[in-house]
Amino acid sequence: MAYETINVEVQDHVSLIKLNRPDALNALNSVLLQELSKALEEADANDKVRCIVLTGSEKAFAAGADIKEMSEMSFVDVFSTNLFAEINDRFDSVRKPVIAAVSGYALGGGCEIAMMCDFIIASETAKFGQPEINLGVIAGMGGSQRLTRFVGKSKSMDMNLTGRFMGAEEAERAGLVSRVVPAKKLIDEAMGAAQKIAEKSSLSAAAVKEAVNRSYELPLSEGMLFERRVFHSMFATEDQKEGMAAFLEKREAQFRDK
Ligand code: HXC
Repeated sequence: MAYETINVEVQDHVSLIKLNRPDALNALNSVLLQELSKALEEADANDKVRCIVLTGSEKAFAAGADIKEMSEMSFVDVFSTNLFAEINDRFDSVRKPVIAAVSGYALGGGCEIAMMCDFIIASETAKFGQPEINLGVIAGMGGSQRLTRFVGKSKSMDMNLTGRFMGAEEAERAGLVSRVVPAKKLIDEAMGAAQKIAEKSSLSAAAVKEAVNRSYELPLSEGMLFERRVFHSMFATEDQKEGMAAFLEKREAQFRDK
């Protein structure tokens, strides 16, 4: 499908979705958010795709929600349309792993979209921030909630109250990103991670996502029970037999998602 504000290509079982509004540093307008949601839905439904990578340009992953578009909106506009709820629900429903590959600015809604992904690989030039306070609003897609879970209250308050940007090194130290690589290597690194995931059983990958995401919602004892039960359920799969047999026979596992 042809899109106006994003590019999508599938390479070796990985859907690479690239935000593409260079004139506005990939600001998230309604068209882009609808197209991103559609692309995620399509990638999740495509049997050839086993993992998704979301990226922007070298200068900007996304510099936030489109301020020009938002500036004219009233309370009734944003409340009645439940502005930005749909994209959050879409990320929540995607069962395939999604990696954010972030270079340059990931601000406001840009930082929040990156946090909706399953993990973030950053280039050395990445800058994360929740500067909505400078616009007389606050974060609205997870900047006060997900960021706090990632980096803790103190740093989240600092970011949300001062609007300052956090560089890649600080973001890695704080646990917001999983790896930092030179900008030129970002896509290769993210695609490499995605290929590794694509080699696994998709059943295990989906189960990992469910289990890790439950850890954000459940008390520890309930989360441990959930994890154990999912682990037990994996013994009903052919991929568990194959994975363990392959180890014992000292060969590569051939997973069949069964
Ligand atoms: C619309 C934007 C934009 C945005 C940049 N642009 N960010 N347009 N919405 N969020 C546009 C600029 O207007 C400009 O267009 C072009 O992109 C290049 O930006 P410059 O400012 O000229 O670039 P630079 O000087 O390099 O500064 C980069 C920047 C700055 C530091 C990222 O653009 C900036 O502060 N942007 C806003 C960041 C922000 O506040 N994000 C949060 C948005 S609110 P022209 O046409 O002039 O060339 C948000 C709320 C989410 O995300 C809540 C969800 C519910």
